[in-house]
Formats: sequence, C-alpha cells, structure tokens
Amino acid sequence: MGSVKNKIIKLRKKILYHNYLYYKLDSPVISDEKYDFLMKNLQILEKKINLMFNINSPTQRVGFNIRNSDNIFFHLTPMLSLDNVFNMDDYLKFENKVKNFLNLVDKIELCCEFKIDGLALNLIYKKGKLIKAVTRGDGEKGEDVTSNAIKIKTIPLNLNGSNIPDLMEIRGEVFIKNSDFIKLNNESVIKKEKIFSNARNVASGSLRHNNSEIVIKRKLIFYAYGYNVIQGKDCISNHYDKLQNLKRWGLSIDSHTVLCNGVKEVLSYYHKIEKKRLLLDFNIDGIVVKINSIHFQKILGNTSRSPRWAIAFKFQSIKKVTKVLYVDFQVGRTGMITPVARLEPVEISGVQISNVSLYSKKEISRIGLSVGDYVTICRSGDVIPKIINIVTKNIDKTNNRISFPKVCPICMYEIIQKKKDGHFYCSGGFNCIAQRKKSLHHFFSKKALNVKGLGPKLINCLVDNNYIKNPADVFKLKINELILLNNISIKSAEKILKFINKARSVSLSKVIYGFGIHEVGLVTAMLLSKYFKYLHKIIDANVSDFLKIDGLGPVVAKNIFNFFHDQSNRKLFYSLLQELNIHTDKNYGMGSVSKNMLFFNKKIVITGVFHELNRIELIKKIESLGGIVVNSISKKVNLIIFGKNPGVKLIQAKNLGIESIHNIKFLLN
Ligand code: IVH
Repeated sequence: MGSVKNKIIKLRKKILYHNYLYYKLDSPVISDEKYDFLMKNLQILEKKINLMFNINSPTQRVGFNIRNSDNIFFHLTPMLSLDNVFNMDDYLKFENKVKNFLNLVDKIELCCEFKIDGLALNLIYKKGKLIKAVTRGDGEKGEDVTSNAIKIKTIPLNLNGSNIPDLMEIRGEVFIKNSDFIKLNNESVIKKEKIFSNARNVASGSLRHNNSEIVIKRKLIFYAYGYNVIQGKDCISNHYDKLQNLKRWGLSIDSHTVLCNGVKEVLSYYHKIEKKRLLLDFNIDGIVVKINSIHFQKILGNTSRSPRWAIAFKFQSIKKVTKVLYVDFQVGRTGMITPVARLEPVEISGVQISNVSLYSKKEISRIGLSVGDYVTICRSGDVIPKIINIVTKNIDKTNNRISFPKVCPICMYEIIQKKKDGHFYCSGGFNCIAQRKKSLHHFFSKKALNVKGLGPKLINCLVDNNYIKNPADVFKLKINELILLNNISIKSAEKILKFINKARSVSLSKVIYGFGIHEVGLVTAMLLSKYFKYLHKIIDANVSDFLKIDGLGPVVAKNIFNFFHDQSNRKLFYSLLQELNIHTDKNYGMGSVSKNMLFFNKKIVITGVFHELNRIELIKKIESLGGIVVNSISKKVNLIIFGKNPGVKLIQAKNLGIESIHNIKFLLN
C-alpha cells in the first residue's frame, strides 16, 4: 500500500510538471502517447487504493486530456431536472403549493429566467480553478467533457474576484446560436457532410466530440444559471444575488433575468418573453421561475427528480405559416399509404421544415386541405411538425384537390382500404419495391438480425441493382457483387459479408420480430418463441393455439395466423430457413423463482422507450426478479412499466387501475 501511495505521489508530480510545460509554457517535452501512458498508470494506481477522487490529482484537473468519451464522473450533488407547467392554472397551482408549504399569505419573491434549450453542464471549481466539466448524464453521473469544455470561451478556467467558495459546482446550459447553426449546416451541404437536425444536437454532439477543436469551430456558448457550494462559505441569501456573483466571477449569465412579485408579474414576464423569443438568436422553450430566497429553497427541498422551489413554465410550440406545394404518397413497410405534404421550407426553432405527414385520407378531409393552401404549422412537443389549420385557401380555380391514388405510386398495384383500421394499403406486398426495401431494412435492423453495415442505403442499392429480392438472397451475396456497387471497398465488403455470415445463427424471437408482422413487437416475438420453441410449430399453429399464450390477444393472434398462412410469405421463409441456424430463446429468469422476488408471479406489460436498458435487457431483468412479461393489457395484468412516449397501453392500464412504474433506475443494480 505504502509503495503504491509513493508511486501515485511521484506520478502526480511528474504529470503536473508536464501539464505546466504543455498548458502554461506551450512547450511539451514528451509525446501525447507518453503523456497518456503516465495518466493511465496514475488512474490505475488511484483506482487500486481507492484514491480516485482527489481534487489535487491531475486525473481530476484541467490538463487531463480526455481521449475516452465514455469517461464517467459522479456529480458532487445530483443534477436534478425541473417540473413543467404549460398554462396559467398549473403555474398558479405551483405557486399556491409553495405558499401553503411555507405558510405564507403574502406575495412571494420569484426569480424569472430564460429556459435555454441546450445541454446542461456541471462545472466544478476548486479554489477558483476549473477542474472538471461533466454533462448531466443520468443526473447522478455524467460524461467527463473537460477537455472540450475548456475550449468554450464563456467558461473561465480561473474565476475572478472575491468570496469564491473553495469547492463548488456551477451549473448552466451549453448551446449554439441559430445563425451559427444555419451557417454550419450550409457548409455541411457544400462539403456533403452530415446535416444536423437542430441546434441542440450540434451542442451535444460537439461537447462529446473527440476533437476539441470542433468546440471552437462550432462556437459553443455556456450560460450559468446557478451554483452549489460544496466546501467553503457563501453568505448569499437569494438566488438573484447568486447570479450576480456568477457574473462577477467571470461567467456569462442571461441578461433577461428579473425579480417578480407574485403571479401577475410572472405572467407578464412570460408573455413578454414568449413574443421576444422569435427575435432571439438562440432557442428557449420557456421560462424558469425560482423561489428567490435561499432560506425558503432549503425549507422546500427537492423530490428525487426536481426541486420544489423551481418550475419550468413552458411555451406553446412556435407556429409558422407556409404554403403546401404538393402532396406525395409514401408506402410503408406494411404497405400503408401515408400522404405527406411538401411545404415551402420554413424554420421553426432552428429546424428547417419542408414536409409534414398528413397521416390519412380522413385527416386531409378533416383539415379540408388543397395544394396551394397556406397553412399554420407547429412542431408538436417541439419535435414532429403538424398542420394546425388553413390560413388562406388557394383561390386558383385550377385543379388543386388532393386526390388519393387508386394504385400504388411505386408498384402500380391496387390500393385497398382495410376495414379494420380504415387506412389505405398497397396490395403489392413483397412485389412492391417500397415495401420490399422497408421489410428488408427491418429484417436486418439492430433489433432483428442485426447485420452491421447493411443499412437502408445499401439495401436500397442492392434491391435497385437486382442483387437481392428477399432476405434469403442476402445470404447468397458474393463479394464482387458488393464491390461492384459504388463506394464499397474490398475491405468494407469483406466486413459486411462477415457480419452477414455471423447473423445466420440467430434466436427464434429475433427472426419472428424481423418478419415485421403487424403488432408483433419484441415482447410478443419472445412469448411466441418461448411457447412454441420451433418455427415450424408456429407456422402450423392456429388462432386458438396462439390464444393459449398468456398476454396475447385475439387481434395479434389473427395477425400472426394470417401472416404464416399467406402463400408468398410461406415461400419466403422456407427459402430463408435454408440459410439460417435458428436457436430457441433462453429463459432469462435466473433459474428458480422464489416468493421473495420483487416481481414474483406478477404479470407485467412494458410500453415506451427506455434509455437505461434496451427491451431485451429489461425483459431479462423482470424475469430474473420473478416477473412474467406479457404483451397486452387485461385485468390479469399486475403492473405496467412505461418509458418515454408510452403507447395506448398506458391509458388502458390506468383505466383499469393497474399499478404503473416510470422510473426504472432501481432495476439497474
Ligand atoms: S435550473 C435544480 N435554470 O432545463 C434545478 N435549468 O429540465 C436545475 N435549463 O436540463 C435547473 N435553463 O439544464 C435551470 N434557467 C435555467 C435553465 C435550466 C435551462 C435546463 C437544465 C435542465 C432542464 C431542466
């Protein structure tokens, strides 16, 4: 132990010396590799005797050039989120709740700020020196992005002025200006590089980029909105003064922050800023209202997710008017025809919008839309663009009606309306190139056969050049066929063939999921695999056999039956069986199930997207805790676990009074 400690001390001194030469004198005497080697050794030794978090170690300071973007760092205090309100009534509820909690009758002083739509960043300053910059991550730990953050001009490496606490975390938002975002995308178009979908993604991608010069080039900005003192004194009694402190120390804060007394003043600020946001050169998606008194903040405290002393009062999404140029009809994987309006491009919160889905024929009639109309569009939830209404009808008497096609625009097969859902479908099946391409994308996608390198672009190219017609053809591809396609080198072609070969050995659930049967997701595919064990048994089963599976409803049972009894599908998967080596899915439960397990015998439905775990991992976890994952909601279901963008299952579950869980962090241990 003693000798390890000595080694650590020596290494720290050595690295600090090289930091000095590199950062202060700009004249390093060792190579980057040698420097990395010293640093790596130090990290290993620190880990060995648990000296990981020592603020004086160069592993914790600027000068530590992070090459590994997976570098995780635990925040000194959790980085919480904010609760949201979207209207005056809900905002009032927040203020009243706070006042009740504090036993106040009088108006309360509130600090109102911009809610900048960027990326949260935590800066750790020790004795006024920046030692770490960490993204929010999961709130408890984030990604160490110090080497990039030090390149942001608005992040001071050393704080100025007096009363600087010994150790503190300064928090704020990283973003880029909309004008810089547009410039960047224009340059990307010329250079044929990746186009970013919005300014926030640029900020986030740049901060994690392994080349820190990108941060300078993309002009990232940091605005601080608060700090927490970890060691040392801070005699400040209100939030507004804290912001002034930040400014004095050299940080940038937004200049629109004001103090308000009570709801009336907050509302007037909210409306003023809502109008002003259109003139700003950066995106804000609301205001943040904070109880100004630190004393009150302390009494109110936090929930596990957010502080009780602050609220995000969000704006309605921005609306813009534009013209409908024409309407296209897209063919999906299942053949469903979706009308898409092509628009005169407009920009909403930094994103160019030129298409909007019209969903269905019914929706076109509901809006009463014609080509040439001027429409109001918004990005609902600030993401998916949507038509709200028609502003000016096209008065041109020429034919501008949107007529739904009678035949598929891709394969010319007849379009038929399905009674079941009222939607229109191309009847071409696998004969339709559009359906064929999309089915192939799905079959080889990550959640199904997971063939790396065989993405939509390559599949489209292979189909267009007649190299593949169905999934089985992919396994017969020859190297020269791949090389003949543009942009594929011998090396990449070999790699792709290697991945294709690897995908031959696959679990039954992935094959079933890959077929893309209507309403058969990963969970149902897994249920089928576990129940039948072999594909031929599924192929020969009838609807009543499927209904024997717990958690599988009649609609899905019928879909599966119909799929496997379609003659052309049968042909396709018999040829596929020659190529694949399908194995049954393991039962994920860790052997025996005991009554003490958290989910013992509980029937559980999963819906939505989870960032912490993927579907399979979540199913594994539930089963290892004694739970049974089922696909559909019924009275027999005990629990629903829901992630982001949950489906209709959550509403059904709530109607039946089924218990629900949103936060799955406790499952991660
Ligand atoms: S205070 C404990 N103030 O909004 C309170 N957050 O959902 C922490 N944000 O990712 C947040 N502007 O980074 C606060 N003036 C502001 C903010 C702000 C933007 C972000 C924050 C977080 C998200 C909260």
